[in-house]
Amino acid sequence: MVQATPFLLVLSLVLGAHSLSAKKCSLTGRWVNDLGSNMTITSMNAKGDFSGSYHTAVTATMNEIRVSPLQGSLQRTNQKGQPTFGFTVNWSFSDSITVFTGQCFLDEDGKEILKTMWLLRSHVDSIKSDWKATRVGINVFTRLESQK
Ligand code: BTN
Repeated sequence: MVQATPFLLVLSLVLGAHSLSAKKCSLTGRWVNDLGSNMTITSMNAKGDFSGSYHTAVTATMNEIRVSPLQGSLQRTNQKGQPTFGFTVNWSFSDSITVFTGQCFLDEDGKEILKTMWLLRSHVDSIKSDWKATRVGINVFTRLESQK
């Protein structure tokens, strides 16, 4: 029994370390970003193609905000559980498109966090106005509470 204690201690450390390193960042589920926008990723196939919906909290237009579809792709090569990804939101209530690119990280507490950059392309009436048609920014997403 005296020798069993250090053995159990080492075993629990090994198992604990393994479960931490084995944890992977997964995109499926519900997310909220720093602007208060909500995103749900519902389906992911074996190739890493995914789809879902996006409810933005803000708009560059005067239009009434509506939930909009998103489609994306997860990179699955040598990602060590923290994969890169990209997705497009085709806004239902405006003539704009946003593309996001980012990486799914596990922070030091094992919490998932999506660090993204986006380009929002708005429609303009002529090529003369092209210079003002694209906005750029960053968004940080965290998993909504009560989600795994
Ligand atoms: C539009 O205004 O034409 C469509 C909505 C754009 C919302 C942008 S996309 C980037 C940023 N992140 C969000 O969650 N919402 C804004």
